[in-house]
Amino acid sequence: MNDSPQPSPDSPSSVQPRRVAVALVHHPVRDRNHMEIAASVDWVDFFDAGRVTLVYGVTPLYVVHPVESQKALVERLISHGTRDDRTSETRGRFDHARIVDSLDECIADATERFGERPLVVATTARRLAGQRPYATVRAAIDRGEPVLLLFGKASGLADSVFERSDAVLEPLSGGTGFDHLPVRGAFAIVLDRLLATDRSADARPVSGAPDGGQPHG
Ligand SMILES: C[S@@+](CC[C@H](N)C(=O)[O-])C[C@H]1O[C@@H](n2cnc3c(N)ncnc32)[C@H](O)[C@@H]1O
Repeated sequence: MNDSPQPSPDSPSSVQPRRVAVALVHHPVRDRNHMEIAASVDWVDFFDAGRVTLVYGVTPLYVVHPVESQKALVERLISHGTRDDRTSETRGRFDHARIVDSLDECIADATERFGERPLVVATTARRLAGQRPYATVRAAIDRGEPVLLLFGKASGLADSVFERSDAVLEPLSGGTGFDHLPVRGAFAIVLDRLLATDRSADARPVSGAPDGGQPHG
């Protein structure tokens, strides 16, 4: 089965497809009172996730939801986005999106597609014991190991999801003490930290700049 996204017409593809899938988990997640709930689907999160996964060559994009009416909504979003693919900048392709009932189904489907069980990696703003540095997960991806990244809706993934995951990534942090990103912000940053093609460019001095940094103005 070939699920690789096609290269964007803007830039030639320069990387081998990595074996990375992502899941927007709507259940089980937590509400503000730490109760386990199913969150409703947000079309902005879904469309943004569709676009971001195309940029980073991530497939499938799983939407985990047990409720039929919410799954039907995602189906409608997929056909709406697909129909407008060629006419609107704000729409994307969704043939790499998959709707599944549960995390079990998500892991089973990813295992079948990759031909082996992926490393299941949860994300969170919380600080938990034994969280995995980005470099370690990035190295696994670069070795060709399959990875399934989990992102939580509402107030984040339920504890049962962390218990079932093989690893939990360190929280993204700007050092302010407030680390709670919106899910689509975290989604884009995590994929960039794990999949950007040339991270060494971030640290490279700009030639000619007096302070060796970015030119000002
Ligand atoms: C609204 S946030 C939930 C924040 C929540 N307090 C938590 O436990 O992560 C929704 C999702 O965005 C992602 N996320 C938010 N902030 C993050 C951070 N600092 N580092 C990594 N992922 C983050 C996680 O997938 C989280 O489940």
